[in-house]
Amino acid sequence: MFDGISTFSFPTPIIFGPGAIERLPEALRECGVSSPLLVTDPGLRAAAPFARVVEVMETAGQAFEVFDAVHPNPVEADIEAAVAAYRAARCDSVIGLGGGSALDAAKAVAVCATGDAPLAEYEAQAGGMERIAEIAKTLGPLPPVIAIPTTAGTGSEVGRAAVITSHELGRKIIIFSPLLMPRRAILDPELTVGLPARLTAATGMDAFTHCIESLTAPVFQPLCDAIAVGGLEIVIKYLERATSDGADIEARGMMQIAATMGAIAFQKDLGATHSLAHPLSTEFGVHHGLANAICLPAVMRFNREAASAEYARLAGIFLNATSATAGPGLRNSTSEIDTADIAIDHVERLLDRLGLTRRLRDCGEGRITREALPALAAKAFRDSCHLTNPRPCTQRDLLGLYEGCW
Ligand SMILES: [Fe+2]
Repeated sequence: MFDGISTFSFPTPIIFGPGAIERLPEALRECGVSSPLLVTDPGLRAAAPFARVVEVMETAGQAFEVFDAVHPNPVEADIEAAVAAYRAARCDSVIGLGGGSALDAAKAVAVCATGDAPLAEYEAQAGGMERIAEIAKTLGPLPPVIAIPTTAGTGSEVGRAAVITSHELGRKIIIFSPLLMPRRAILDPELTVGLPARLTAATGMDAFTHCIESLTAPVFQPLCDAIAVGGLEIVIKYLERATSDGADIEARGMMQIAATMGAIAFQKDLGATHSLAHPLSTEFGVHHGLANAICLPAVMRFNREAASAEYARLAGIFLNATSATAGPGLRNSTSEIDTADIAIDHVERLLDRLGLTRRLRDCGEGRITREALPALAAKAFRDSCHLTNPRPCTQRDLLGLYEGCW
């Protein structure tokens, strides 16, 4: 029944609520630091959340440096430039402000400001976790990272990974270590009200995909399973509200909680949807959440027998939610597999209500041709997420899944 020894860990202190950003100076003091580098992107520098952080820091008399040149899919040059700024200003900590890219960049800065090796040396697949542990032991602890998300999807604020494109290797690499976990996560729903509806919907579906893929990953992690189910309930209840009224603070706050829950849950691992989504972003610039949203129903159909119990549970959540009254219901005689199909139907209806396309050919500015799919499938097969899909996938299966949602 129990497949070996499991470890469970949910250690990030989370400061949540409207106005939580006012606790940032106190969080720095609690971490014993006084000279942070704030890492963000140019769009956010010009937006309200950045101005709010400046206001809070100035009111507290707390100085800080800014690095504002993180790319949407961060590259190694971003990290090198940020580390140079960190060292020039003799910083002692890193604040990540933004979506997953800024938060991942902040974590990578903490690693590279401590060690001197190129980013590729810290790649998880190449023994990076041990190398990060080694530099922390010999060169001193990694500087504390405080994560302040302005989207509700990736959950990077509680994650122990960063995804950065290495110029040496010419591809995205995953840096992974428990030492990368932010020392504090500040979730202030007021910082997410400016997120446009389309991005709200797409990032929210990333959180949804984290929850359902972690729930179905064949790993013994009952704590994560319960968190994944809780996250699904919240997304189903609040994502449409947050998308249709960006100023709905309750919906915004609950979606931040759901995103955090999704990322806590996926310490179990993910599934084939994420393997399909990753090359769509790197090759065609499709938003990560949208890529997941498009591929998810096809993957669920592929998994319907292997994950029928979990999908039946999802159907129950949809049927209990007041916002999902428009879909098919259950009869006493409905089998588990038919109930799983009902869940898939409800996911598709949710995507339609959110106004998200369900066809790949509509994304990537029309550049995703049918002929491009085999090369994408080869890349998806090399992505490790599908290794914990509830039904094993061949490269041919992944191509069939792309074709199914093309
Ligand atoms: Fe994701």
